[in-house]
Amino acid sequence: MTAAGEAVLQVLWGASPCVNSFDRCLNISSSGVSFKFNVKYAKNKGTGYAELHNGLKSRWRVCAFHGVDRDSHGKTGCNRLKSGCCKCRRIESIDGLTVDNGRQPSFPNKSESNEPNVQDFKLDRQLKNGKAGISSNDKLNASGSITNTVHKVWAKSVEDEAWDLLRESIVYYCGNPVGTIAANDPNDSTILNYDQVFIRDFIPSGIAFLLKGEYDIVRNFILHTLQLQSWEKTMDCHSPGQGLMPASFKVRTVPLDGDDSATEEVLDPDFGEAAIGRVAPVDSGLWWIILLRAYGKCSGDLSVQERVDVQTGIKMILKLCLADGFDMFPTLLVTDGSCMIDRRMGIHGHPLEIQALFYSALLSAREMLTPEDGSADLIRALNNRLVALSFHIREYYWIDMKKLNEIYRYKTEEYSYDAVNKFNIYPDQIPPWLVEFMPHIGGYLIGNLQPAHMDFRFFSLGNLWSVVSSLATVDQSHAILDLIEAKWAELVADMPLKICYPALEGQEWRIITGSDPKNTPWSYHNGGSWPTLLWQLTVACIKMNRVEIAEKAVKLAERHISGDKWPEYYDTKRGRFIGKQSRLYQTWSIAGYLVAKLLLDNPAAAKVLVTEEDSELVNAFSCMISASPRRRKRGRKKQTFIV
Ligand code: GLC
Repeated sequence: MTAAGEAVLQVLWGASPCVNSFDRCLNISSSGVSFKFNVKYAKNKGTGYAELHNGLKSRWRVCAFHGVDRDSHGKTGCNRLKSGCCKCRRIESIDGLTVDNGRQPSFPNKSESNEPNVQDFKLDRQLKNGKAGISSNDKLNASGSITNTVHKVWAKSVEDEAWDLLRESIVYYCGNPVGTIAANDPNDSTILNYDQVFIRDFIPSGIAFLLKGEYDIVRNFILHTLQLQSWEKTMDCHSPGQGLMPASFKVRTVPLDGDDSATEEVLDPDFGEAAIGRVAPVDSGLWWIILLRAYGKCSGDLSVQERVDVQTGIKMILKLCLADGFDMFPTLLVTDGSCMIDRRMGIHGHPLEIQALFYSALLSAREMLTPEDGSADLIRALNNRLVALSFHIREYYWIDMKKLNEIYRYKTEEYSYDAVNKFNIYPDQIPPWLVEFMPHIGGYLIGNLQPAHMDFRFFSLGNLWSVVSSLATVDQSHAILDLIEAKWAELVADMPLKICYPALEGQEWRIITGSDPKNTPWSYHNGGSWPTLLWQLTVACIKMNRVEIAEKAVKLAERHISGDKWPEYYDTKRGRFIGKQSRLYQTWSIAGYLVAKLLLDNPAAAKVLVTEEDSELVNAFSCMISASPRRRKRGRKKQTFIV
């Protein structure tokens, strides 16, 4: 039985508290980051050049702490939660968590037949309180408040379990916490690269620690990954662009040169050169900037973002993103699989997720860059890009019933500067599912836009982060949440939240995914349901003052997630099955849930992630709108946002 189950039972039966193991697991050093550079190393995997931000090239490793009892992940040896301290009967339902479609809330140790029955419990309590025989309304109220209490206790214990698991996933480097492992299932023999610290996966872990007031791990993560930023890695004799952040890194323990009896720890980054499909992680640097800002806002410690090496790191990421290419669009041009969806899913080009993170990172960077002569050009380029990017996304990615109707009647082959159908979209492209799916109230930003092609799929992360970062207008942001509410059965169903909707099927799946057996319809990236997305949903809902949506989603997740062992993702249209190849004890599922809970308890804290549109941008944007030929032609009034 998990801790969650145990805690509920303690309340139900007054059992003595089970031993909580996290104090023993907790071993976070409060010391800062310490680097010890060593200059003579052999060229092997795990070492290599580090071009430091002071301009020097150096090889480096850091000596490991000895005498600390850690496993290969650098974690202290501590077991998962102790189990089985209570004998119990089955719980059938709790408030708001009714049995649906034959699937019951998956309480830990479901198979135990002696779990308590809440109905029995309610009656028992009523009898004990002398309430038997009172009016049916009173009974209802009494049982309602009891079941509410049970739910609260249950939720609290799921949360406690999540904290224990999150702490167990911490990776140490030279005795300091530097990140969290992607998945931590002791029974999984096919770990692949899930034993690494992924940059994107660490974001919810980092936010959870920040919201708890534990800043060291985030600070260490920021500074260590910064040192990895410029490692010289090559793929077929070609190096990634300067400024690229790795997708993940691993702490390796290797024999110390020239001394067989000693070992040392090295940080070994992966920029995609070892990743399945060899995909470069465009999102890593963007998330890094977003986390850096959140760290400063949460901890009040601005000294990290003000450091020269950190400022250089920010600029390197920006330069890489703002570099000129052949592209005509202000959106960032990337290959397939360069973000959370890190396999072929037909999102190459200008996928929404990258654009939303790009916009958010640009705004965050602008806030953090210290003004100095050398960066004036960069800041100018950044400002121009912000305006152009928001205009482009709001204008051309937006879709709702009205816009769909416009597209349905589009004329094509318009050769002119003021063409209405600028991208030459053929109306036949409107997929039949969309005609059914699009609600009368609500709308969303499409997944991608290319010449003669609109990817009409709904991508959750891109839409939610467009709300959080104010890439979407206020009206659009509300409309996105309206759509999520209206299409709850499709997008949330039994487990929040679908990564995208709908799934690619048949011939489309074969061609677009390359017949990927992991991305079969309604699984994994192809319409699977990912609990980690709860935290982004929660931030978006808090920003728009619509917390009830997030609360409902969190309650849904709470029903199964602990009993199901915190899966990475769920399969099927309703998200009713644990994903076929899903990892268990997936850290960002755990952390995503925790961040959602922490923010719902303290919504004001969401401001460390939210970026509000500033008046300069609004003005520049409205000028662009009024200058747009399409708007002029229709004689619309100059206004800030037009949906
Ligand atoms: C999968 C996900 C990716 C994640 C990684 C580690 O590859 O697609 O987004 O970062 O697993 O959890």
